[in-house]
Amino acid sequence: MNDLWELGEAYELFMGRWSRPIAQAFLRWLGAAENGRWLDVGCGTGALSELIGQWSQPQHVTGIDFAAGFIQYARQFHPEAIYDFRVGSALDLPVNDNWYDWVVSGLALNFFPEPQTAVNQMHRAAKPGGTVALYVWDYAGEMQMLRYFWDAATALDPQAAALDEGKRFPVCQPAPLAALFHAAGLVEVTVQPLEITAVFPHFDDYWHPFLGKNGPAPSYVAALTPTQQSSLAAQLQQQLPIQPDGTIPLTLRAWAVRGVKV
Ligand SMILES: C[S@@+](CC[C@H](N)C(=O)[O-])C[C@H]1O[C@@H](n2cnc3c(N)ncnc32)[C@H](O)[C@@H]1O
Repeated sequence: MNDLWELGEAYELFMGRWSRPIAQAFLRWLGAAENGRWLDVGCGTGALSELIGQWSQPQHVTGIDFAAGFIQYARQFHPEAIYDFRVGSALDLPVNDNWYDWVVSGLALNFFPEPQTAVNQMHRAAKPGGTVALYVWDYAGEMQMLRYFWDAATALDPQAAALDEGKRFPVCQPAPLAALFHAAGLVEVTVQPLEITAVFPHFDDYWHPFLGKNGPAPSYVAALTPTQQSSLAAQLQQQLPIQPDGTIPLTLRAWAVRGVKV
C-alpha cells in the first residue's frame, strides 16, 4: 500500500495540527539565533517552515518536498519573500553545498527511502559550524494517537501489524538516529525526547481525520469496507482513554536529534 501524501488539507487535519506544537518544542530545543539561513527537508505543507519564520526571524527558508500538492499548499499559505518552496527529493537536494546555518526536517526522515542518504545530503547543505537537526514520531512508544490506532487495528486484523509504523520504522529510536548522524560526519550529536499533549474534544475529532486517506493509517482505513471501518471505530472507542466528559487526552512524543558540521 502506498502512503498517500498529496492532499494538503486532509494532511492538515490529520497531522498538521499536531506537527505545529511539536515543531515549536523542537525550535525551543534548538534555541536558534536570528537571521539564519534555513533548509526544511520534507517540508510538507510548511508547518515547521512557518514556525521558523515566526520564531527565529530567518534571513531565508528553503522548503523541499517531493509532493507537488504539498508544495502548492505551502506556497499558497506562505507567500512571504523569505520562503522558497520547491519540489525536490531529500535524496538529491536541489540546493548548494555549505550554505545553510540550520538544516532541519520534521516528521519526515522515516518516509525517505534511504535515511542515511538524506542525512548525508543535509550535512552537505549545512555550512561548516552549521547545525543539522530533525525529529520523528516515537511510533513504537509514546506517539499515542497512532499507537492506539495500530493496536486496535491489529486486534481486529493481524495483517495490519505489517503496516504498523512502530514496526515499519525502526529508525525512529534514539540509537539509530544518533548512528545516522555520526555516520554522516556530524559531531556533538545529541538525542532528546519532545512531548506535547493532544486533547481531542470528542471521539469524532480523533476518528474523522483517519478517514482522510492521507498518510499510512488513513490509507489503511481507506482500504477497509464500511463495515470494517465501523468495527475499527468501535474497537478504538473501547481502548482509548475517553474521559467522563468525552475528551481524549493523549501524549504525542517525538525523538529529536541534532549535530554540528565541522
Ligand atoms: C509526515 S510529512 C511531514 C511534513 C512536515 N515536515 C510537517 O512537519 O508537517 C512527511 C513528508 O515527507 C515528504 N517526503 C517523503 N519522501 C520524500 C522524499 N524522498 N523527498 C522529499 N520529501 C519526501 C512527504 O511528501 C511528506 O510531505
